[in-house]
Amino acid sequence: MIFYFTGTGNSLWVAKQLKETFDEPLIAIADELKRGEKVLKYNVRTDEKIFFVYPVHSWGPAVLVTRFIERLALEGYEGQPVYSVSTCGDECGHTDKLLRKALHKQGLILKAAYSVIMPNNYILLPGFTVDSKEIEEGKLENAPQQMKRIIAAIQQELTDKRDTLYHTGSMPGIKSYGVYPLFAHAAIGRNSFRVTEACISCGLCERICPTSTISLKEGKPVWKNTCVQCVACIHRCPVRAIEYGKETVKKGRYHHPEIK
Ligand SMILES: Cc1cc2nc3c(=O)[nH]c(=O)nc-3n(C[C@H](O)[C@H](O)[C@H](O)COP(=O)(O)O)c2cc1C
Ligand code: SF4
Ligand code: SF4
Repeated sequence: MIFYFTGTGNSLWVAKQLKETFDEPLIAIADELKRGEKVLKYNVRTDEKIFFVYPVHSWGPAVLVTRFIERLALEGYEGQPVYSVSTCGDECGHTDKLLRKALHKQGLILKAAYSVIMPNNYILLPGFTVDSKEIEEGKLENAPQQMKRIIAAIQQELTDKRDTLYHTGSMPGIKSYGVYPLFAHAAIGRNSFRVTEACISCGLCERICPTSTISLKEGKPVWKNTCVQCVACIHRCPVRAIEYGKETVKKGRYHHPEIK
C-alpha cells in the first residue's frame, strides 16, 4: 500500500516508481481525507509493505500527511514494514523522526526513512524561489538513480540510515522542532493568494486543491482560510494567473514534467 501526497508532482513520481517495483496500490491521501468517515480503515496483507510518500514542508511532513495518520486504522497490521520516502528540495531535517512519532501514536512502527532530492517548489516567502533550469534538470536526471538505491535498500531490508539515502541537512533540531511547529500552526490557514486578469476560468485550481480551499466565483478562484501551502494551485495554473501577494510576481513556476 502506497499512501502519497503531492503538490507539484515530485512525490507522485516517486510513488509511481515504488509501485512499479513493489506492485502495491497507490492511495491519494488528499482524496482519502475528503471522505466523511472519522476513521480511515484499510486492510493490510501479511506480506504487505506500507509506504508513505510526501513532500517535506518546512523540515517536517506536509501537514495533510500527519492529519491523515491521525485518522488511520490498518486492519491486519502485525508489524509489516512501514517506510517513509519523502521528497525535498535539499534537506529534510528531522522529518523522519516527526513521521515516526506520528505513526507510533497509531501503533505503527517505522522501519526506515529515505528522501529524494527533487526540484524545489517553495516560492511564497522572500529568499525562496524555484531552482535554476540547470539545477532543476540535474535533479530530475539524478532522481531515477536515487530511487534505484532506495529500492535496493528496501529490497535488502537495510534499516540503517545512510546519509546518501536521507538528507538531514544542517541544524535539524532548530528547523524541525523550532521552525516546523510555527509553520504547521501559524502559516497554515492563512494565505495571500490572488488571481490576475490572465485567468481563463478553466477551474483546474479548484479541482486540484487538496483542501477544497478554492472555489470559482463568477469564473474566478477565491480562497478560504484552509490552505496548507501545498503550492499546487500557483504552480499548476496553465496561464500563470495566480500570485501570492507581490512575492511571486518575478519568480518562476515548477511542476514535475510527467504530472498531468
Ligand atoms: C511549504 C513548503 C515548505 C518546504 N520546505 C522544504 C524544506 O524544509 N526543505 C526542503 O528541502 N524542501 C522544502 N520544500 C520543497 C519541497 O519539499 C520539494 O520541492 C518537494 O519535492 C515537493 O514535492 P511535491 O511536488 O510532491 O509537492 C518545501 C515546499 C513547500 C511547498
Ligand atoms: S487554474 Fe488558473 S486559469 Fe484556471 S481557473 Fe484557476 S486561476 Fe484561472
Ligand atoms: S489553496 Fe493552493 S496552496 Fe493552498 S492547499 Fe489549495 S492548492 Fe494548495
